[in-house]
Formats: sequence, C-alpha cells, structure tokens
Amino acid sequence: MYNFDAVIDRKNTSSVKYEEMELKFGSNDMLPFWVADMDFKCPDFMIDCLVNRANHGVFGYTKRMPEFYEAVINWLKTRHDISVKRENIEYGPGVVFLLNMMIRKFTKPNDKIIIQRPVYYPFRAVVEGNNRVVSDNTLKFENGKYVMDYEDLEKKASDPECTMMILCSPHNPVGRVWTKEELQRVGEICFENNVLLVSDEIHFDLVYKGSKHISMMNVDERFNKNIIVCTAPSKTFNIAGLHTAYCIMSDLEKMEAYRSELGLLDLNRSNSFSREITQTVYEKGAEYVDELVDYLEENMNFVHDYITENIKGIIPYKMEATYLMWLDCKGLGLDTEGIDDLFFNKARIALDSGHWFGDTGEGFMRINIACPKSVLKEGLERLKNAVDEM
Ligand SMILES: Cc1ncc(COP(=O)(O)O)c(C=O)c1O
Repeated sequence: MYNFDAVIDRKNTSSVKYEEMELKFGSNDMLPFWVADMDFKCPDFMIDCLVNRANHGVFGYTKRMPEFYEAVINWLKTRHDISVKRENIEYGPGVVFLLNMMIRKFTKPNDKIIIQRPVYYPFRAVVEGNNRVVSDNTLKFENGKYVMDYEDLEKKASDPECTMMILCSPHNPVGRVWTKEELQRVGEICFENNVLLVSDEIHFDLVYKGSKHISMMNVDERFNKNIIVCTAPSKTFNIAGLHTAYCIMSDLEKMEAYRSELGLLDLNRSNSFSREITQTVYEKGAEYVDELVDYLEENMNFVHDYITENIKGIIPYKMEATYLMWLDCKGLGLDTEGIDDLFFNKARIALDSGHWFGDTGEGFMRINIACPKSVLKEGLERLKNAVDEM
C-alpha cells in the first residue's frame, strides 16, 4: 500500500505551484490547488532509481538505450493496447514542446489550427506563439456533460487554411474521456479534410471507473498516418520536473522530419535522470498507478460531496479522467473578478480560473485534487467559510 495521506512540505524546492503563487495571485501565503502536478511523495522504487543513478556519480553524455524504448512500448501495449514499434516512437522533453514542434514542422505561418475550448490554455499559446491562428471548435454542454460540436468541426476543418487540429484526450479541464464513437467522428472529419490530428494524451493513465481511454491510434487504421499522439509519464508519476515525454507516429516520413529537428536542436541525447526514471516507472509502476487512481477517485468523490452538501452556488462536475475538477461557480452570482476575489483573496486558495481556458470557461474554476485529503479538506473549508461570509 502506498501512502498518499502524508503531507510533504514542498516549499524551497523551486516548485512552480508553491513559489509562483506570489507572481500569479499576489501572495505565496495560500493553499495551492492550481498547477497540474501532485503533492504526493514518489514511491520508494522511483526514489531508489534516482538515488542509485546519483550514487554512480558520473553524469556524462547519455543516450536512450533499447531497454528504454522497450519499457515505453510495453507500457503502451499492456495499459492501453497500443501496438507500436521502436520506429514509431520518439522522445521529446515535454508534451508542450512536442506540440510546438508539430506545429512548426507540419503547418505554415497563418494556418488555422483547431482546438476545443475551454481547453488547457497552452494550446492557444502554442498556436498563436507560432504565428498560427486559433480556430475554436467550442465544446457544447448538453445533458450534464461536455460534448463535441461536429457540425462546427466539419465547417472549420473544411476551411482550406486549416491544416491541424490539437485534440485533448482525455480532456483538461472538462475531464471527458472521449468514447470510440466520438473519436471516430473527429478522426473521420480530420482525415476527410486532410487536417493533421495531433492527440495530446498526457492524462491517459488517470482514468476512473466506468470509463476507458482509447488512443486515437486505436480508432481506425485508415486514420493512422494522419495522427500524431503526444504523451508522457509525467502526469501519471509526477515527474514533470524531470522532462520526459514522447510522440507516436505511423507516418515514418513525418517521424524522420521530427527526429532530424530534434537532432539539430541537440535534444536527441538524454538527461541521465529522466532516462532512468522513465524506464523504471514503466517497468515497475503499474500497481502504484492503480492505487493512485483509486485515491484520486476518492478525492474526487469527497470534493463533489463536500461542495454539494455545504456550498451553495457551486456545482462540481465529476470527471472521467485527470485530477483536475471543473467547478461551475455561476450560481454564486459573481462576475469573473468577483469569483477570483472570493477564491484567491477571501478563501486564500489558488485555483486555475476558468477564464484562463477561454471565454467559455468564464464562471468556472479548476481545482487540482491530487493532494492529501487533509489538505483538500482544509481548502474546501476555507472556501465554505468565504462563501458563508459573502
Ligand atoms: C493536456 C495537457 N498537455 C500537456 C501538459 C503539459 O505537458 P508537459 O509538462 O509535458 O509539457 C499538461 C499539463 O497540465 C496538460 O494538461
């Protein structure tokens, strides 16, 4: 049994979540539920891996050996039924890095790129930062859940200036795990319109009971050359600080183009620690992930029940995946600044504001539930007290 209840002091570890609250919210004296990493200490097998490597004491140029790729291939097969060969996968230092690279290599300046807002805000940043244009296929909210608007998607994808779509699967922040039917329709629309489909599957391991992640690679063989999957062990095992991710492609010409760019940037060698930890988590981490997902699901249910029973005006949406929960705060009767003020200044809890994810996120907050239950409880009590005092 792993211990997810221990409260770990993360101050003075250069943690973005803790040290950057001042910059973002005006104070570090808050409880952080924002940046998408977890407050749990890594299990011993991960710490031992890094300590053993550190104890060797020589950190010269390092490469990813075949065992590294075998561990990735085996994880993909056993956990997600994705069959890939070595030639179809390649390392990248992060998923956002990979998205940037795919945009730069496979689209041109001023091309339109479809994203589905409200969505992980770096999607917009990578499109606009590379002088491409966001084409927003806004998600619809129907019968208590977010769904895709296919009619609009068809229209946007058929625009000759549109050359790429970035899909978030599972979706951050709305927590959807897209079904095979939903993915089939997206895949079909992109395929028919020659729109390259980049599927960000970084949250793929953190899926709750009743849902099953289906990789875009496993939807329809016809689509496969038109698909690039970007994913990582970093959300699953809380190793964003070790910079390790990878992409999967069937189209070997595109893979070659990506690899040569990686080589040019001199990123095709490896950080000694990220290389070791990736192989280790994929070889030894299955049981840990199963326990972690159970704990996160308990946290999700706890937040849902606490808010439903104690805080009027906020509706928590249970997610099908991710440890990021979408809270509908429109019932509080406050505008965007009022909601920010309530959470940040009155309750003194740091969450991602819904409007960061696009206009359709207005009136929402995103809470990161990947922390010990006692911390979550304290955060929710602070929120309840602030709402009671309104
Ligand atoms: C959908 C999605 N993609 C990518 C990332 C970040 O990936 P990386 O740290 O590997 O760049 C996140 C982090 O929250 C995310 O939610």
